[in-house]
Amino acid sequence: MKEQLEAFQAAALDTIAQADTLSALEEARVKYLGRKGAITEILRGLGKVSAEERPAMGQLANVVKGAIGSALDDRKVELSATADAAREESEAVDLSLPGRRPQRGHIHMVNQVTEEIIDIFAGLGFQVAVGPDIETEFYNFDSLNTPADHPARDSHDTFFVKPGVVLRTHTSPVQMRVMEQVQPPVAVLAPGRVYRVDYDASHSPMFNQIEGLLVDEGVTFADLKGTLMHFVHHLFGKNTKVRFRPHFFPFTEPSAEMDISCTVCSGKGCRLCKNSGWLEALGCGMVHPEVFKHANYDYEKYSGFAFGLGIDRIAMLRHAVPSINHLYDNDLRFLEQF
Ligand code: PHE
Repeated sequence: MKEQLEAFQAAALDTIAQADTLSALEEARVKYLGRKGAITEILRGLGKVSAEERPAMGQLANVVKGAIGSALDDRKVELSATADAAREESEAVDLSLPGRRPQRGHIHMVNQVTEEIIDIFAGLGFQVAVGPDIETEFYNFDSLNTPADHPARDSHDTFFVKPGVVLRTHTSPVQMRVMEQVQPPVAVLAPGRVYRVDYDASHSPMFNQIEGLLVDEGVTFADLKGTLMHFVHHLFGKNTKVRFRPHFFPFTEPSAEMDISCTVCSGKGCRLCKNSGWLEALGCGMVHPEVFKHANYDYEKYSGFAFGLGIDRIAMLRHAVPSINHLYDNDLRFLEQF
């Protein structure tokens, strides 16, 4: 039995010395000292040893067990140290490497232009107002003097949510929502998304408008003209000319469309202005008395003007963008240029 124990110790110590990972070491422990391990097997043989020899053998077995145990402990300390060192090396941070710049977003071109326009009108005392994108037919059309059988309603190509409820086709319903809430004098600017069934290079089914409304005693078309000229000069530069052409909107009378001299050729004629020298910029007019009636405003006492401009169009004119869809495709190669 003595030889058996000595051979066992030698084999165990050898395996332990050769274990080069912590899991290999754990395998060795189970193999030699585990409950079902080799040492248990040998100790079972103690019963066959003679009574005189038995205490000495028991003692020897304990010594062997102790030796293997401490060899396991020592090897474990060694292996842990190497594992730690390896981990430290693989996780090491090289502080001298150049950093990676985080991606930084910026304000979308359409929103930049919106903010610029709001700033210009804020300087004149206009306040920002908002209304819902999902609007009733009453606010979008009827209250604006555009009843169901009105031919102008066709040109809006409306998206219906359900009968009587639409995606607003313009920001003009905000006029009515504001007038229901406050008494004159009123000077508001209402930016927002609008929707029409229309899709090509110059039309997107969703686009942005800014509505302007000013109501007070004695407001005239001259006030409308002066206000819009101030706006154009600030946004496009002092040398930009404006002209007003008679037009029709159900909710203004008289109505006009305002053109600005071409931002590319300054009026000489080019591809953008189709050689006319002018670009269509917005629709406007004096608030129709029928609209004041819906708002319960005294149309004998008050007058006002309103205008509605397409922000996307203005942004495209400013930056010479060929298709409105570029604004909404969310292609960073495009957006990052502005
Ligand atoms: N709502 C009109 C449109 O979308 C623009 C407009 C607004 C015209 C206010 C006159 C007054 O075309």
